[in-house]
Amino acid sequence: MAEERGTARVTCTAPVNIAVIKYWGKRDTDLILPINSSLSVTLHQDQLRTTTTAAACRDFTEDRLWLNGEEVDAGQPRLQACLREVRRLARKRRGDDAAAPLSLSYKVHVASENNFPTAAGLASSAAGYACLVSALARLYGVEGELSEVARRGSGSACRSMLGGFVQWHRGERPDGRDSVAQQLAPETHWPELSVLVLVVSGEKKAVGSTAGMQTSVDTSPLLKYRAEVVVPERMTRMARCIQDRDFEAFGQLTMQDSNQFHATCLDTFPPIFYLNDISQRIIALAHRFNAHHGRTKVAYTFDAGPNAVIFMLEDTVDEFVEVVRRSFPPNSNGDQFLRGRPVGTAVLPEELVSAVVVDPVPGAIRYILHTKPGPGPQLLDDPSQHLLGPDGLPCRSA
Ligand code: DP6
Repeated sequence: MAEERGTARVTCTAPVNIAVIKYWGKRDTDLILPINSSLSVTLHQDQLRTTTTAAACRDFTEDRLWLNGEEVDAGQPRLQACLREVRRLARKRRGDDAAAPLSLSYKVHVASENNFPTAAGLASSAAGYACLVSALARLYGVEGELSEVARRGSGSACRSMLGGFVQWHRGERPDGRDSVAQQLAPETHWPELSVLVLVVSGEKKAVGSTAGMQTSVDTSPLLKYRAEVVVPERMTRMARCIQDRDFEAFGQLTMQDSNQFHATCLDTFPPIFYLNDISQRIIALAHRFNAHHGRTKVAYTFDAGPNAVIFMLEDTVDEFVEVVRRSFPPNSNGDQFLRGRPVGTAVLPEELVSAVVVDPVPGAIRYILHTKPGPGPQLLDDPSQHLLGPDGLPCRSA
């Protein structure tokens, strides 16, 4: 990728992932080593993605970073850790090759943008660091095991280095070499699996994951029990549900694990609340919907914020979207309520409406994003898609 002279530039995209067995808690905060393994579904980049350009040039005088068009501090330890690790791998790979195209001593410029609101609880740091590491690795010609590097940016970012269904092994080693992500199955494994993101708030979360999980590690006995006893068994079970494409079992375990994660937040002292009143209404709605159908047709999960991610099979999407629309009638503020993949219309039977749609709350959901499992990071070949120009400065504002 490196250009012989001038500025070398590489642009990649990377996906968001949503954990169905949650990561919460570190045993090593510097290396970002988790107290338990976790398992996630990578979401499709057609709907949610980060795009990052990494550039290096002899003339750059300092590392610089632009996020969504705004310059921010490039000295942050996690960014520098990723940069250091990619360079270390590049050095190892090159050995004494003096003819290597790009000097490892050059400073880098990085520009990154999301096509979704940052810090809206949509795992922007996971996609962000996965994208950064993918772009830097390409820039320096590094291949192979990179989830370990992405992990140094943000724990959950290691899972965004792969598509489909991904597990992040806790690992045993103190140096973290075995704390890596692994693909369980590609996104094509379960084509009927559909995902709705219900965006209830674009506001920044109250307590960030990094600080929140540390307080949980320090104070929650439930979290300790979860990591030692509950998660190991659930990892095995969840992998089997996915292998068998058993939606009911997958859905139940997904909901239970989300609920236990939020229970550990409540067990943290002082307690942390990520779910709000609307999140709780979505949970109740999902259970009424499933009870009405007499089986698990939809499954919610929530990360460190109030937005819901809901899994279902394709044949349930139209009906459930209509149920959500009836339960949270959209404000006609010009915002598009339904985004992403197309959704068909559904006429709801009267008995479904009376059993499931109770006490509607107008305007409580800003929009619904329809997506599905998708692939891992991608390289963009078209130079017109670089976010940094040949001068190493942002081409356009976000
Ligand atoms: C609730 O990966 O954001 O989304 O490693 O400190 O950067 P750091 O935390 P982060 O935590 C994500 C927590 C979660 C659950 C999950 O994604 O597994």
